[in-house]
Amino acid sequence: MAEVGVIIVAAGKGERMRGEVPKQFRPLAGYPVFFWSLAFFASQPIVREIALVVPAFKVDELRQTFAAVEQPKVRVVAGGARRQDSVSAGLASLSTKCEYVAVHDAARPFPPQHFEKLFALACERGGAIFAFPVVETVKRVGPDSQIRETLDRSELWAAQTPQLFRRDELDAALDDCERNNVEVTDDASAVALIGCPVHVVEGDRWNIKLTTSEDWQVAECLAMQRRERLQLLQDLAKRWAISLG
Ligand code: CTP
Ligand code: MG
Repeated sequence: MAEVGVIIVAAGKGERMRGEVPKQFRPLAGYPVFFWSLAFFASQPIVREIALVVPAFKVDELRQTFAAVEQPKVRVVAGGARRQDSVSAGLASLSTKCEYVAVHDAARPFPPQHFEKLFALACERGGAIFAFPVVETVKRVGPDSQIRETLDRSELWAAQTPQLFRRDELDAALDDCERNNVEVTDDASAVALIGCPVHVVEGDRWNIKLTTSEDWQVAECLAMQRRERLQLLQDLAKRWAISLG
């Protein structure tokens, strides 16, 4: 069976959230935000390796943290200026045995449970991403705050992560962006630009991305309710004998 490498991008500055420590390193119910998704992917049998992409100033500290772990699936890599540069750095660190690669935002602490379904769809049809149908009525608004257009909601989905692709397709897509100087906000856009099909799997509304300080309050409530995830974090931190401040 094909094996999956996961890239967790955690090298952003968290400017919209503000605060001294970037959001992905702040504690959520006692564990740093990035560890929530790291523990989830580490517990998935189809995941062979995980690249944790962090800002350069965090690399030494986190390498030390994971160095003591026996048979670590995790490698710590320095990210880049744009999100896509961080994804490229993560991809370069994964062994070529990972035929499929999932990219996940560290700022999303609660990836959907049905990750294997995403993998199955990617194997069958090409790229696959978690997404959720848009529930609000969406307007296009001009700079003068006047509504220009109401979009047809029945076709709109909000893209989430993880997003899973054949490794060669993701690699080619990132190269193409680099060559043509294109900036993308997710990996599915890059893969679509080189003409590869990407399908959606319905995710869930708990898979929020921590962006502003309001999101933080929601995440704290969700974290307290997700007892099974919290248990996973505790077990893994204990098994790996790591302390995450
Ligand atoms: N990310 C990254 N490298 C970058 C930029 C973003 O690894 N150069 C990661 C972030 O750490 C985050 C994910 O990409 O996990 C999604 O990005 P976003 O929510 O925009 O986070 P930030 O870029 O950190 O926040 P902001 O845009 O508010 O500064
Ligand atoms: Mg950003």
